[in-house]
Amino acid sequence: MREGSHLIVLPFPGQGHITPMSQFCKRLASKGLKLTLVLVSDKPSPPYKTEHDSITVFPISNGFQEGEEPLQDLDDYMERVETSIKNTLPKLVEDMKLSGNPPRAIVYDSTMPWLLDVAHSYGLSGAVFFTQPWLVTAIYYHVFKGSFSVPSTKYGHSTLASFPSFPMLTANDLPSFLCESSSYPNILRIVVDQLSNIDRVDIVLCNTFDKLEEKLLKWVQSLWLVLNIGPTVPSMYLDKRLSEDKNYGFSLFNAKVAECMEWLNSKEPNSVVYLSFGSLVILKEDQMLELAAGLKQSGRFFLWVVRETETHKLPRNYVEEIGEKGLIVSWSPQLDVLAHKSIGCFLTHCGWNSTLEGLSLGVPMIGMPHWTDQPTNAKFMQDVWKVGVRVKAEGDGLVRREEIMRSVEEVMEGEKGKEIRKNAEKWKVLAQEAVSEGGSSDKSINEFVSMFC
Ligand code: UDX
Repeated sequence: MREGSHLIVLPFPGQGHITPMSQFCKRLASKGLKLTLVLVSDKPSPPYKTEHDSITVFPISNGFQEGEEPLQDLDDYMERVETSIKNTLPKLVEDMKLSGNPPRAIVYDSTMPWLLDVAHSYGLSGAVFFTQPWLVTAIYYHVFKGSFSVPSTKYGHSTLASFPSFPMLTANDLPSFLCESSSYPNILRIVVDQLSNIDRVDIVLCNTFDKLEEKLLKWVQSLWLVLNIGPTVPSMYLDKRLSEDKNYGFSLFNAKVAECMEWLNSKEPNSVVYLSFGSLVILKEDQMLELAAGLKQSGRFFLWVVRETETHKLPRNYVEEIGEKGLIVSWSPQLDVLAHKSIGCFLTHCGWNSTLEGLSLGVPMIGMPHWTDQPTNAKFMQDVWKVGVRVKAEGDGLVRREEIMRSVEEVMEGEKGKEIRKNAEKWKVLAQEAVSEGGSSDKSINEFVSMFC
């Protein structure tokens, strides 16, 4: 490998972005590249090496002082992050050059498209990384190009949106900001801006795999240099469903996690419902109550991730009442959980990482999308890949306890459940194939690496 096989990787500061991009770093390191992973953080610290010698983590400030509340105003947050990155990169690039390891490219999160010009200004290639699937990016592209106009209210129209290579999408299936554009105008702008300079990007990376979005791939490849490199789920999880080896993965986590895995170990195969809503979704209190009641009344075992800030919304004495039937944790080692043989289904908000993780590990899903790209992911999960069902909300937006119970039974039992399980197995194999040696994503990663070696 010649000098300069060194890249800067810059995720947006959020769990759903850092996880796939840091996993991608590990894949690149295993193929011989050197990486500097720049992490925007509220507590910057000196750079450090990871367990992979070729990956250096370089934490930088998010531009806020200690004690300031960063997420009060999204526009202000984005601006401060941008300023902090722009102030830090010149010295970083300079130091890399002086140390004999000049960078060749910046791999940057799609939500920070201005990094393309920054990369070019240093003579580096710009590789954009999408942490959402093509089916969502393609919709935003149509909005950006003006070939799909954003309605201003969700219920003021009955639009059926038709995109090339898509099933018909109702308003309920579109990314939420397109239907409720007035509610989050700044987020709408950010997601559409992801496409603002895509025609000038050198390489377009996406955490998906070719077979998953086969028809769309042809279309996007006709426009850009596209490399699908996912799922970024580490191969040790894809290789097997765990649990025969009770100690598997434990060294990575703390005792509380071990307790959670031990709880799963005591359960029968396919008997547990796992629920998680990612790092951002905030459920309303009445929704939490319906969910809690539905789970309890289903009589099924369940493992539910409720972040500490959300636990006050649970019914009083709930933990005592459910006893051994349920385990509530504030964070789970999601991949270990999904790979555990006791998990029978995954009730998810359909964040793209969670959807891809469930699909890659062959776990039937119940989609309960909340906002952003989640409704679209849920539509494809149910109607295109057919690996689960989406819960139906009532007119007031609430998903009632009866619907939770019905969906759990539908996926865990009966003919439909069997069909879903069969499809889930099929997609699990296809996801594994994609990242195995010689698979489509593995080849794409090799192609990417060869551009810098
Ligand atoms: C968001 C969006 O929903 C997603 O679609 C977008 O493209 C990226 O940002 P988030 O809502 O956090 O992400 O959900 P998701 O994409 O599912 O990512 C959550 C990640 O956290 C997953 O990798 C999941 O394995 C992990 N996780 C979640 C845990 O490890 N433990 C938990 O308890 C919950």
